[in-house]
Amino acid sequence: MVGGRSEEAAARTSAGIGAAGYGSLGEAARYGRAVLLAVPAGAAPESAAELAPDLAGRAVLDCTVPMAPGTGGPGLTTAGGTDSMAARIASAAPAARVVKVFGICHESIWTLPRPVFEGAPLVVPFCTDDTSAGFLAAELVTSMGCTPLACGGLDRAGLLEAAAVFAIGAWWSGGEARHAFPSPALAPGATDD
Ligand SMILES: NC(=O)c1ccc[n+]([C@@H]2O[C@H](COP(=O)([O-])OP(=O)(O)OC[C@H]3O[C@@H](n4cnc5c(N)ncnc54)[C@H](OP(=O)(O)O)[C@@H]3O)[C@@H](O)[C@H]2O)c1
Repeated sequence: MVGGRSEEAAARTSAGIGAAGYGSLGEAARYGRAVLLAVPAGAAPESAAELAPDLAGRAVLDCTVPMAPGTGGPGLTTAGGTDSMAARIASAAPAARVVKVFGICHESIWTLPRPVFEGAPLVVPFCTDDTSAGFLAAELVTSMGCTPLACGGLDRAGLLEAAAVFAIGAWWSGGEARHAFPSPALAPGATDD
């Protein structure tokens, strides 16, 4: 179910992605096994606070990227403090079971029927303090044909957010972020040690 401030916009998005339906933000927050908070980072903590009663006990998937477009390309926004977006959302809706996930890739990747690159399924990192919400996120990622990668607790969510901003900044300037992270196993003469 797609929720929105405007019923018309929610209906449009719902039709566009073939969702189960559309409704208010609160209705969408209470629907299904998990809720994806997909609003601009600057609005996310306030949105989470407003929806806190609806998000209580819910697995909340936070895909926000704290990015501020600047003259030199996207940069980290520090508006509202230095905590990660995930931490700020968790603090705004304390009973929500927050998972940081799905922020790394552009929407064009998430809508691929089969996200496989160079023969390997897309790896989707996630961070959470809630084991069952993490299992749910991993199940969802697997159902999309991707490979989940547990990256620790919510205290590490800021690293994923910074990685997303870094990658977007690299693409913005014509680079290819993934080429900056070759595995040491690929080095000539590498051993398993
Ligand atoms: N786009 C991507 O490729 C991508 C990839 C990874 C992560 N993300 C993250 O996903 C989130 C959404 O991205 P997006 O590209 O969909 O952004 P967007 O188009 O700027 O925002 C999505 C929707 O949020 C709604 N919105 C704005 N302020 C709101 C508020 N205060 N309360 C409730 N709803 C509000 C708007 O809907 P109405 O005006 O109709 O209410 C808007 O259509 C962002 O945090 C972004 O960083 C995006």
